[in-house]
Amino acid sequence: MTEQRPVTDTAARPVPTLPDAQTVTAVQHYTDKLFSFRVTRPASLRFRSGEFVMIGLMGDPHPETGKQKPLLRAYSIASPAWDDELEFYSIKVENGPLTSKLQHIQPGDQIILRPKPVGTLVHDALLPGKRLYMFATGTGFAPFASLLREPETYERFEEVIVTHTCRDVAELTYGANLIADLKQDEMMIELLGQDALDKIRYYPTTTREKSDKMGRITTLIENGDLFTDLGVPPLNAQDDRAMVCGSLAFNKDIAALMEAAGLHEGANSEPGEFVIEKAFVG
Ligand code: A2P
Repeated sequence: MTEQRPVTDTAARPVPTLPDAQTVTAVQHYTDKLFSFRVTRPASLRFRSGEFVMIGLMGDPHPETGKQKPLLRAYSIASPAWDDELEFYSIKVENGPLTSKLQHIQPGDQIILRPKPVGTLVHDALLPGKRLYMFATGTGFAPFASLLREPETYERFEEVIVTHTCRDVAELTYGANLIADLKQDEMMIELLGQDALDKIRYYPTTTREKSDKMGRITTLIENGDLFTDLGVPPLNAQDDRAMVCGSLAFNKDIAALMEAAGLHEGANSEPGEFVIEKAFVG
């Protein structure tokens, strides 16, 4: 039986004290460098799956004035646009001004969330196509966690190929669990349809720790392994669309490969064949 609380018991609800405060509802740690968390969603916040917002905490008090300023960073929203809560996937950087603190949040704590979503990893910035590639490294998986739970992804594409490259196997956990759960979750099957979920082709690779598939995705595109492993034709501008999210160097290298295959970068104002966003790094 569930516990019954009197309706007058509001003590459990923390009173927002930060500007644009949202309350943490869940936190999960994957490795000593990676964690995800969920927060309440402002009632007025509308966003497109794949977009990012600025989130953070109050910084340390100024040594002389004692004043505190918000410490904010861009974070892709990892939950889909229809979700009641917001999910984020984050790195923990030992001396990172924000993540060294953010990694200690607990349910009930507050974070700051500026409700102004923006970004180019959105369906509006891509021309229609047959196959959608999602190329992620590290925490660059976050926007795809949103887009993989977005019905439009499957309405627009016949096949959805998700590549995720990390140094070690444990760093793949968030993405691997998300896709495995998605494929068996009854609510998601009802919402997206079994046919939609069958369109997902997950292609995880590692570069430092041994795993079933090793190598940078850029190398696996160049040597053709990605296409032979999945049994799909090489990249072509007519059928293929791509969304890219990783480090600056990764994004640059993938962009060069997309352009070499004849794909053009798109933007909200001018949709194209591929779009790019930098993953939050520290
Ligand atoms: P590698 O181990 O060969 O550097 P990081 O943890 O540094 O953000 O990297 C995440 C993953 O992305 C690692 O597996 C890394 O491979 C890979 N990676 C980093 N830079 C590039 C790049 N320019 N092109 C392709 N993959 C990259």
